[in-house]
Amino acid sequence: MSSALTDLFPYPIVQAPMAGGVSVPRLAAAVCEAGGLGFLAAGYKTADGVYQEIKQLRSLTARPFGVNLFMPQPEYAERGAVEVYAHQLAGEAAWYEAELGDPDSGRDDGYDAKLAVLLDNPVPVVSFHFGVPSAEVLESLRRAGTFTLVTATTAEEARAVERAGADAVIVQGVEAGGHQGTHRDNPENDRSGIGLLALIAQVREAVNLPVVAAGGLMRGSQIAAVLAAGASAAQLGTAFLVTPESGAHAVHKQALTNPLFVRTELTRAFSGRPARGLVNRFLREHGPYAPAAYPEVHHLTSPLRKAAAKAGDAQGMALWAGQGHRLARELPAGQLVEVLVSELAAARTALSEFPAGAGGAA
Ligand SMILES: Cc1cc2nc3c(=O)[nH]c(=O)nc-3n(C[C@H](O)[C@H](O)[C@H](O)COP(=O)(O)O)c2cc1C
Repeated sequence: MSSALTDLFPYPIVQAPMAGGVSVPRLAAAVCEAGGLGFLAAGYKTADGVYQEIKQLRSLTARPFGVNLFMPQPEYAERGAVEVYAHQLAGEAAWYEAELGDPDSGRDDGYDAKLAVLLDNPVPVVSFHFGVPSAEVLESLRRAGTFTLVTATTAEEARAVERAGADAVIVQGVEAGGHQGTHRDNPENDRSGIGLLALIAQVREAVNLPVVAAGGLMRGSQIAAVLAAGASAAQLGTAFLVTPESGAHAVHKQALTNPLFVRTELTRAFSGRPARGLVNRFLREHGPYAPAAYPEVHHLTSPLRKAAAKAGDAQGMALWAGQGHRLARELPAGQLVEVLVSELAAARTALSEFPAGAGGAA
């Protein structure tokens, strides 16, 4: 870890930003107080909403924290595809007694206004998802004293992150819950993605930046593995999603360990961009033909997802989850950090005892 980031928080554990009301200030504060790095998610929020959340978080902890921004998306090519998808979702709208949302409700997520908030009221760490900010933006954040991170899902993307001048790269494996932070969504994308350990090795050979590893990490032993592979810290989403402090819907939390949901898949069904969620009815029925049109599809399905959540119907909600979801533990967030840290220490001790600890010849 670069000294600037290590100095910020004692344990190599980052609570992933989770948009959609999951990584609320009380969750971030609990993680920060326990010695990890808590994060707020600015995605889908207004600039004022972000400002208010930062204020609230500051009232809960004096420790360093992060704020995550979504990069604005380029115009997608096939406008007709969203209209076709809207027709295909008509039955869902009738079932949930909801209107489909307006796909054109906005495509830049208020990026400039949120950035202005973060430059006027600098925070310790800012991360970016869905692309690379300009070198000027990264430089102005650095001048404000902010440490910058950008997600990459391939070695090529990590090179772009380094060229732009970010302080570190978040390496997101295909195991990760929620949206893949792919820089440019490609309609031809086969949704395959690269596994985290393979990706860390590739990124470490491609760039000279500290790495924060994300995707499927639920236990301290896995954190030990990514640190051994060269990461400086681990970013966990699904593990924190089930904590009592998380703002996730109770139905979402319960579904993660419900034996009804055994698989996750990358899907465009809910938002138009590949994101990993539990395979439920909506994902199964609409995933196969949902168009590559983010955030239009996100806006289109928003009232359906809200209606399903209100009805407590897990089969119609976006149940974002990483591949490790069945290992989720419903512990208070601070306690989860403590357990992860002790598991990490135990795994490191076991490794240091190798080969005797591995049962090798004495
Ligand atoms: C519910 C949910 C919402 C997420 N929202 C965001 C987000 O707003 N910004 C972001 O950079 N990553 C987001 N992610 C992805 C995480 O940063 C991280 O890559 C992922 O959680 C790691 O995989 P894991 O869930 O298996 O730990 C989200 C993940 C989940 C599960």
